[in-house]
Amino acid sequence: MSFPADFVWGAATASYQIEGATREDGRGLTVWDMACRKPGAIWSGNTGDEACDHYHRYKEDVAHMQALGLGGYRFSIAWSRILPAGTGAVNEKGLDFYDRLVDELLAAGITPYTTLFHWDMPYEVFCRGGWLNRDVADWFADYTKIVVDRLSDRVQHWMTLNEPQCFVGLGMRDGIHAPLLKLDMPEILRAAHHALLAHGRAVQAIRANTKQPATIGYAPVGVTRMPLTESAADIEAARKFMFSIEKGNYWNNIWWMDPVFLGHYPEDGLEKYAKMLPPIQEGDMAIISQPLDFCGANIYAGDEIKAGPNGEVQRVEMPIGYPTTAIRWQVSPEALYWGPRFLYERYKLPIIVTENGMSNADVISLDGKVHDPQRIDYLQRYLRAFRRAGEDGVPIKGYFQWSLLDNFEWAEGYKERFGIIYTDYPTQRRIWKDSAYWYQSVVKANGENL
Ligand code: FCB
Repeated sequence: MSFPADFVWGAATASYQIEGATREDGRGLTVWDMACRKPGAIWSGNTGDEACDHYHRYKEDVAHMQALGLGGYRFSIAWSRILPAGTGAVNEKGLDFYDRLVDELLAAGITPYTTLFHWDMPYEVFCRGGWLNRDVADWFADYTKIVVDRLSDRVQHWMTLNEPQCFVGLGMRDGIHAPLLKLDMPEILRAAHHALLAHGRAVQAIRANTKQPATIGYAPVGVTRMPLTESAADIEAARKFMFSIEKGNYWNNIWWMDPVFLGHYPEDGLEKYAKMLPPIQEGDMAIISQPLDFCGANIYAGDEIKAGPNGEVQRVEMPIGYPTTAIRWQVSPEALYWGPRFLYERYKLPIIVTENGMSNADVISLDGKVHDPQRIDYLQRYLRAFRRAGEDGVPIKGYFQWSLLDNFEWAEGYKERFGIIYTDYPTQRRIWKDSAYWYQSVVKANGENL
């Protein structure tokens, strides 16, 4: 079997990582603008002030997407361009930008996949408590309605939140992402609950205001566990671990996904997080579990798991010298088989891989080209694994390669290059890497040449 005929081949980006123009056309500041001002917080003092200057170069970037043959483009909207203070006055110029971008995409035959929140919380919202303030769910719904009113005549596909594990966990617990906080687990679980409420309220706002039937999903990290062998015992051990919680650790799937897809917090978490739980009001779980159309997952790597002699879950140590990408995430292609398969088994929704890709130490070679055989190899292996998930009955709907172009990689600044298109930051020149030509051929063949 191959990829379904209507499979969406895309690429993904996020507002703060590519747009730049952070002080232009009335955009309000965000927690990332502030984090970038803190000495030592971001690699080499990099900021998103200019990033890929996509705000001015979006036409050129869409032309690249069109030349690549992309069917879909996943981008995010900067809340603070629409509502500079997060609530209140609307900034028309911000809406105009996304209007122009969407028109440009449609004219190029590319379907927009719009993410409402990819980490750039308006600074004013943060100052009012951010995710710790329950009202954030209403503010996020109000923002969503404004965007939907303006774009839903042309945008049909929506994602609410990107990777809450990261913006809550890395941002508020570990202090390595904006807003650089180091809070304790009770605050983390409270922020998580409010983020989940914001998700649900946004889904309601889309359904209530969309001008055409919408397809709506969610894009959490797909924390992936893979069986060491395909024995029934190893598979069961991996499945069990993939849907469990480690005490005191927020890094998991089920706390962030079960409420959304199943309508309740997982037993495992209620037990392990007991005494830390946030106030949960009557009706909250119904808001959080609004029906969705697809399960998005950002999957880059997976951990190997095996069953011990009594069926207990055991982590497998990686062999010495195991393959990694430049950012030192392990190369584990089977993650794109087991992740989608396990997520589909549990949540029973079609799967879209909303992010997958690798950072590489890319350079412009003497011949003026950018050769990245590692990325071609990585993508080919992962896509084969994803195809196999489809062959085994998982409804696979789309794949969004991260990323269209090298961009501001959060705390890692511009050090990590995830693009299939090279960004030469001093000149803002875009150069297709070998992997871009390769991806173009894969898209054209609907993956038949993988
Ligand atoms: C994901 C983020 C995305 C990008 C990639 C490499 O966690 O959603 O913005 O940073 O990792």
